[in-house]
Amino acid sequence: PEQTNSCPAPTRLAPGDSVLAPLLLLHPPTPPALSSCCQPDESSARPSAPPTEACSAVPEPWRFDCYPERGAIVSRDMCESRNCCYVPQHTGQDGVPWCFYPPDYPSYSLDVLSGDIMNLQLEVFEETDTRLHVKVRAEYANVLFLIPLQSLTLRGCSCILSNPVYFGLFVIYRRSALICITYILFLNTTVAPLFFADQFLQLSSSLPSQYVYGLGEHRSTFQHDVQWNTLTMWARDVPPTEKTNLYGVHPFYLALEEGGHAHGFFLLNSNAMDVVLQPAPAVTWRTIGGILDFYVFLGPEPAAVVQQYLEVVGRPAMPIYWALGYHLCRWGYQTSNATWEVVTSMRNYGIPQDVQWNDIDYMDKFLDFTYDPVHFDSLPELVKDLHAHDQRYVMILDPGISSTQPQGEYWPYDEGLRRGVFIKDAHGNTLIGKVWPGLTAYPDFSDEATHEWWFENLQRFYKKVPFDGLWIDMNEPSNFLDGSTNGCPSNNIEDPPYTPGVLGGLLRSKTVCASAQQKLSSHYNLHSLYGLHEAKATASALTRLLGKRPFVISRSSFPSQGQYSGHWLGDNRSQWKDMVASIAGILSFNVLGLPLVGADICGFSEQTDEELCVRWSQLGAFYPFSRNHNALDSKAQDPSVFSPSARAAMREALLLRYSLYPLLYTLFHHAHAHGHTVARPLFWMPLFTFSPRPQVPQDPLTYGIDRQFLWGRGLLVTPVLLPGADSVEGYFPAGRWYDYYKVREQSPLFVCIISLGKNILLSAPLDKINLHLREGSIIPTQRPNLTLWVSSGQPLHLLTALREDGSAAGELFWDDGESLDTYENLQYAYVLFTVEQVASYITVESASFYGVQSRPEQVQVNGQEAAFTYKDNKVHIPENK
Ligand code: NOJ
Repeated sequence: PEQTNSCPAPTRLAPGDSVLAPLLLLHPPTPPALSSCCQPDESSARPSAPPTEACSAVPEPWRFDCYPERGAIVSRDMCESRNCCYVPQHTGQDGVPWCFYPPDYPSYSLDVLSGDIMNLQLEVFEETDTRLHVKVRAEYANVLFLIPLQSLTLRGCSCILSNPVYFGLFVIYRRSALICITYILFLNTTVAPLFFADQFLQLSSSLPSQYVYGLGEHRSTFQHDVQWNTLTMWARDVPPTEKTNLYGVHPFYLALEEGGHAHGFFLLNSNAMDVVLQPAPAVTWRTIGGILDFYVFLGPEPAAVVQQYLEVVGRPAMPIYWALGYHLCRWGYQTSNATWEVVTSMRNYGIPQDVQWNDIDYMDKFLDFTYDPVHFDSLPELVKDLHAHDQRYVMILDPGISSTQPQGEYWPYDEGLRRGVFIKDAHGNTLIGKVWPGLTAYPDFSDEATHEWWFENLQRFYKKVPFDGLWIDMNEPSNFLDGSTNGCPSNNIEDPPYTPGVLGGLLRSKTVCASAQQKLSSHYNLHSLYGLHEAKATASALTRLLGKRPFVISRSSFPSQGQYSGHWLGDNRSQWKDMVASIAGILSFNVLGLPLVGADICGFSEQTDEELCVRWSQLGAFYPFSRNHNALDSKAQDPSVFSPSARAAMREALLLRYSLYPLLYTLFHHAHAHGHTVARPLFWMPLFTFSPRPQVPQDPLTYGIDRQFLWGRGLLVTPVLLPGADSVEGYFPAGRWYDYYKVREQSPLFVCIISLGKNILLSAPLDKINLHLREGSIIPTQRPNLTLWVSSGQPLHLLTALREDGSAAGELFWDDGESLDTYENLQYAYVLFTVEQVASYITVESASFYGVQSRPEQVQVNGQEAAFTYKDNKVHIPENK
């Protein structure tokens, strides 16, 4: 295997290669003579162990695990029976495999993980100049589950690989002409064997650097650790914990290359999988189903990689305007009146709030599409009152539908059963699990018929409680049982030959049986798509019901989720370290195409304290999705319950968010229209504001930063993340940075940090979150108010941070905030603001309007009453106004 980055100049150049076009070399052109040990051929002799010297010569970081089965205590015999190298470790480094592939892996046996597929079809498409699409599948393709995702195929080739199981596939070089033409290897899948067996598919490749991001959903730093780090993917209901599969699955990474170029890699596969990062650096994808269907995105800028990824999976929806306001929620308000009291005290204290939520305690006996007639009797009035104050109401829905209500008394179950919308067990009976209401059936959202039933349920409930948006929780789907009330069958779907490192050790752990049947395929294939399918059904039902942009927040997610919902980071704790981790989570989900993301402000479980909650509210004011949420038995933690000074600090932070709404809304427009991120890491920024393309990040000191982040290009957020602090250290990449508050106050003091790339200690009393404007930005703001409905009607105020040469630029996207497809239907205004050294002037002297129905009483220009004439159905504003 090729293990270094010093690659020879490739011998084959594609005709017309552009500077950054990839060169694709297919390996191996000639299959080496192999033993047939991968075939279920008992007659084949055991291969002999590779020579010890050759094994010891493989550097530790480059040892690819030949015995990945969990819990196996691997002996020399077991290892050598796979014809692999056995070298016990004495260095004490965790994770280095003792049993690994020999350098030339002439053959090895996977007798335990049998079911090899001997003929594969390889298809390689250069779909665009920056996107490669590779599919490796069995010739008899559709036995395996294929995720239906369409993308444009432009150029490609297809060939049959016979007996390919021992080979890597290809290497990709970036052709770079910055100084002279060089070829930089950034992806090499020949570093370890490729497997394509029934229920065991594996592909390894080198990574160009240790700077790897994405690969959700995991509780980790933004930059993943490559020191033998296994990231398991299989949707799971569990409070965010390190090294554990969590709610969502996103098999996409973005990696930085030397010099700051970036590329992306996306494995379109929904089966349970392990993604192993090792210090070579290298990555191994090990999945237990589907096909090897992957995309390589060539960037070269990190932002371009995300754009290219989102071209494939879909760009995020444009949120309804109030989604960007402040949301308040808790589990355990206990009554609608108590919920109402919180809303009222927020209003009385003048603290902005756009949306009030309710958790499962609003339901009658935890039944979806009901509300508790005793404790939540005033819920319809509360919602009416919210609407009268330009506020909105969102409630929770869980997928589990109670199966134990008396017949004829619970329409959702009775009708669901009649229409056959629930997931079936392996025998074709409705699968029953257990969630809050007791025994439950699970809607099969992979079936369109279920979407109709879901819509009708929502339509019926809407007549009682006119909600504005929906929170879909527990959709991994979560089950208090493992599998079902009847357990699960014993077969290789439930207990595959190889089980990735899922929490609980079994695929059915705290979910339904893997062998359960859904319309599109078995749950084994669809499990991690459950949240995506539910979000799709929910968004479409809301659109039908309300005729506006749907607001959906989902716990489980999968690539393309951003088209249907936002996400929150799940059941965090009221701890400083959870607040710190939220920034990495928010940055990751922005890279993964779900920019509408936030963490529970002040922490979900455990008791928060005033200082933590103030600091968290300041940070949370800069989450793209900003919601304070609290667990059942925790003390109240909405802003109104704290001391006057804490309350004032939280209010300030929220007013700040509301004043920046025009900027935030414009950033979401760019996410929707162009696949940009909203909250973004510092390395997204080109080193120089004027650097010509390629604008690669060149400041390696920014690569690991996840305690600060940017909104868009120009607003740097540096929150306090430690208790007892009245200062905070932040990194300032090269350039001029203006203190946001001084700019806002129009302070005569010229307050500007001129950095060459350094850490700076900033004063941060408890009532302040540090914000800096990068040189060259113009930010549109508005006078804030208690709701976005009111504040978004206020005049704009532009804040400008000039570059040294006196220039700056900014922009605004504006529409009615709630209609569907305003961008697509050209029902918006888009304004560019620029300050240039060399100005050009143009004055509007007059404007004429045709089609005016009746004589206006007043016409305003720049907010001033202007003289006008009205003649023959025409308003004429005279010159110089
Ligand atoms: C789990 C969710 O993650 C949490 O936010 C919610 O409060 C509880 N379920 C109760 O519905």
